[in-house]
Amino acid sequence: MKVTVVGAGNVGATCAQAVAEKGIVKEVVLVDIKEGLSEGKALDLWQTAPVNYYDTRITGSTNDYAKTADSEVVVITSGLPRKPGMSRDDLISINAGIVKSVTENIIKYSPNAKIIVVSNPLDVMTYAAFLNAKKSKNEVMGMAGILDTARYRAFLAEALDVNPKDIQALLMGGHGDTMVPLPRYTTVSGIPVTELIGEEKLNAIIERTKKGGGELVNLMGTSAWYAPGSAAAQMVEAIVLDQKRIFPCCIKLEGEYGLNDIFVGVPVKLGKNGVEEVIEVKLNDDEKELLNQSAKAVREVMDVLDGMEN
Ligand code: LAC
Repeated sequence: MKVTVVGAGNVGATCAQAVAEKGIVKEVVLVDIKEGLSEGKALDLWQTAPVNYYDTRITGSTNDYAKTADSEVVVITSGLPRKPGMSRDDLISINAGIVKSVTENIIKYSPNAKIIVVSNPLDVMTYAAFLNAKKSKNEVMGMAGILDTARYRAFLAEALDVNPKDIQALLMGGHGDTMVPLPRYTTVSGIPVTELIGEEKLNAIIERTKKGGGELVNLMGTSAWYAPGSAAAQMVEAIVLDQKRIFPCCIKLEGEYGLNDIFVGVPVKLGKNGVEEVIEVKLNDDEKELLNQSAKAVREVMDVLDGMEN
């Protein structure tokens, strides 16, 4: 089985490494437009196989999509990352063109691939990939919710001084400052988080989570890669191993949560067919309002993309 990661930058290379180290596929192909970059990173990564004890072959290709043929899953990380002061939405004009051409090339050689988009602005780039892939909505999805809940869970683990493995959480909405972490659906080994932490501290963690990507951009001068790359690899794993895992992922909604023809994060079941089910949890009025506001923010950027296409 083959998985392709397009974009050999920090996120793409980290994702390729995480997929390879899981030992779940025969080959990972790394593709980049920059001459030699993907070949170099793939060679370096492959040389970790004897050290880290895995046998997934990692190869690189400078824009030759024939090498990606018959991939089961393709992760698209291509595009510019954010610089300090930029919002994810500022990237739309450049990244939309990149995601369009990458998607077309992918589909040409792997018509049955499940596509996971990581490029920003995430929700709208997932929409762009969907438009150009011309595939069913369960086969084109965006990675954001796993990353955003990971940040939320990591902050909670630190604040509560508990093991991050024990924190389960749900977060919905767009991958931006309007994302909606859901304390009512957050537990520590089944214990509602609200029993373990005060409202003020929890609210501060929620606010930090919403701006979690920006915090890293400010620290590093570019956007994050370890958690985004690992999160995308977790989606790959759920699909190739048909794990039926429940994750928040960005997908096209068709009436679920009262939202139509929009790409936002909601809990889904991931298995060999991609998104196998959208899970509709009950939201109270406040949560619904926050989700609607987040969807509205995504809609505005989707409209910008629609304007560009005309
Ligand atoms: C982040 C970028 C990858 O949230 O969107 O770090």
